[in-house]
Amino acid sequence: MSAVSPLLPLNQHLAAAQPSATYRMIDRVAERKAAGARIISLSAGEPDFDTPVHVQEAAIAAIRAGHTRYTQVAGMRPLREAVARKFQEENGMPTRWQATIVCSGGKQVIYNALAATLNAGDEVIIPAPYWVSYPEMVQLCGARAVTVPCPEATGFKLTPEALSAAITPRTRWLILNSPSNPTGAVYSAAELLALAEVLLAHPEVLVLSDDIYEHLVFTGATFATMAQVEPRLAGRTLTMNGVSKAYAMTGWRIGFATGPQWLLEAMEKLQGQQTSGACSISQHAALAALAGPQDFVRNTREVFERRRDAVVQGLNRAFGLRCARAAGAFYAFASCEGLIGRTSAGGRLLATDEDVALALLDEAQVAVMQGSAFGLGPYLRIAYALDDASLAQACNAIRHFCESTTT
Ligand SMILES: Cc1ncc(COP(=O)(O)O)c(C=O)c1O
Repeated sequence: MSAVSPLLPLNQHLAAAQPSATYRMIDRVAERKAAGARIISLSAGEPDFDTPVHVQEAAIAAIRAGHTRYTQVAGMRPLREAVARKFQEENGMPTRWQATIVCSGGKQVIYNALAATLNAGDEVIIPAPYWVSYPEMVQLCGARAVTVPCPEATGFKLTPEALSAAITPRTRWLILNSPSNPTGAVYSAAELLALAEVLLAHPEVLVLSDDIYEHLVFTGATFATMAQVEPRLAGRTLTMNGVSKAYAMTGWRIGFATGPQWLLEAMEKLQGQQTSGACSISQHAALAALAGPQDFVRNTREVFERRRDAVVQGLNRAFGLRCARAAGAFYAFASCEGLIGRTSAGGRLLATDEDVALALLDEAQVAVMQGSAFGLGPYLRIAYALDDASLAQACNAIRHFCESTTT
């Protein structure tokens, strides 16, 4: 029997928020695996590589050297200096170390920025499809997520017209994410400049640039970020990044950002009463990642590009699926419109992309995410952060599943 009365009221904003759809799928996969099923999981958003050895060693050395105590709330100075150098050298953004903050993961950067600034009735513009956590974080802060549909016809990207139409006197933030989770879309500098043109006419709107997939941009595309391409917006842009995806460090929980001083100070104040500084050992590891050799980043980018090509080709061979070659991240976002209304071999009516994802899990033993969880259906998000053999096996299983559907 639970010790807590189920009638005890929750915080109203939490009660109205949805649990993470990605974690729900991860739980389902764990359940099936515990019951003996052999599932190939293409649902989780994390690289399948180990953290580079020199980063592991730096963490072990930090423990042995006794770096096991609280750090400053905004992060230890050597790491903040490395973060400032990263923004300067990789992104061409003049950055002082004092204008940086280190948090427990990119997620905390985003949440704290929103929590530090949003009030009831405020609006946050989120291009859809979006990373599942953005609208829920906005909801947790008691504000309103304004999702703007960005169909495949515009490359799943926000256009200046759509942005302009979405801005109201209540708009506080625009969230941009390039390369995108879930679509892999990458905004060019020209596309960002066109959006900047609209934003310059609305000086009260802040920009959150989620650059967590920065290093996973493939041949033919170039990474660009808003505060770099339009310095006139730098005074109201929070540029967020982290080590999770670039250095295969999702479990270490280190994210960082640069932005206007007033905002960073507000975020630090919040963090000081919440989690304090990020894990000291992880901060030493992140310092080794940023300051050390970068060949890991280059190598993984090449591996992901090769996998993208193989997966996109494999998916396009499947009946009812259609998938464009995205320019970045490690996600394929495939339309499954051709399967909607059909019935799977196991007898499930495929009325939605969620039905397709659940049928794939139960009948093909492949876990993918339904696009509607990211605000656009009927699509499937396929994370290709797995070895080549497993990806080939998954594509075959998906193809077989699709071919065995009937009207
Ligand atoms: C678009 C996007 N932003 C931020 C994050 C959070 O990264 P972190 O693991 O550093 O909290 C993720 C993780 O999946 C992501 O996909």
